[in-house]
Amino acid sequence: VQPNSCRHFLSLFDVSADEARALIARAIELKQMLKAGQVYAPFQRRTLAMIFEKSSTRTRVSFETGMAQLGGHALFLSPRDTQLGRGEPIEDSARVISSMVDAVMIRTFDPETVERFAAYSRVPVINGLTDRLHPCQLLADMQTYFEHRGDIRGRRVAWIGDGNNMCNSFIEAAQLFDFELMVACPEGFEPSADILAPAGDRVTIVREPEAAAEGAHLISTDVWASMGQEEEQARRQKAFATYQVNDTVMARAAKDALFLHCLPAHRGEEVTASVIDGPQSVVWDEAENRLHAQKALLEFLLLANS
Ligand code: CP
Ligand code: NVA
Repeated sequence: VQPNSCRHFLSLFDVSADEARALIARAIELKQMLKAGQVYAPFQRRTLAMIFEKSSTRTRVSFETGMAQLGGHALFLSPRDTQLGRGEPIEDSARVISSMVDAVMIRTFDPETVERFAAYSRVPVINGLTDRLHPCQLLADMQTYFEHRGDIRGRRVAWIGDGNNMCNSFIEAAQLFDFELMVACPEGFEPSADILAPAGDRVTIVREPEAAAEGAHLISTDVWASMGQEEEQARRQKAFATYQVNDTVMARAAKDALFLHCLPAHRGEEVTASVIDGPQSVVWDEAENRLHAQKALLEFLLLANS
């Protein structure tokens, strides 16, 4: 493979609608194989470098475990103990790391870091979350909906809260998986305008959580202050005080509506314990599905590029 000629997964739009559905189907299949005790380890001697410039529980555990289950190996790299934290240019790091490993996952702040890395990488690069997007989470979220309720096409989804990286990825997912999205966010906390624009009237922004939840088949939310926004905590607590998924909001949704949260969650802030620990919540399946969805993604990227 020549540098820059391989496929990356920086956003959901790096796969087609058909490929996205195939990935979900494959994730469900890989999950069943694992539960049946079937060993599937096609990645002998393959390695994944995982660069984490932000904290992680799910993303790290799922990628590392996924690579091990597939017969490969994953390396955890943090800026604290690599030259990335001492100013080595991202382009140089990309050339060096990608000359030795088979794929790279990056979690960082600025989306440009992932894009620059990908431009100089000779192996697939996966976005493990930036300030702008969290596409791997949406694969798991879609898998979870498909498993519990079938196809999400034509369904109504409500996003309550911050127009953040998760919300941006939900907007992309609405287009890729063909569903309607209602976003309830406070003024000044809207999703990125350039991500919203191509979605057209598929996505509607409202101010009232109850209005967004009306008739929804799926409701999701996220923390009021994301990683890197710790200093805005007080301002955000105030701005988001009424943006909570609680029993009143859930009551406006369809009877069989599901609740998703990428986690970690703050009970009593963006969601009540009654909802996240209640019967409509499928957040533990959602978290587990990170493993299965990303195994499908790794298989897709490594096979597509080999
Ligand atoms: N949802 C998610 O990405 O979790 P982590 O931050 O624990 O990886
Ligand atoms: N919006 C959150 C998601 C964490 C998985 C953050 O960026 O911190």
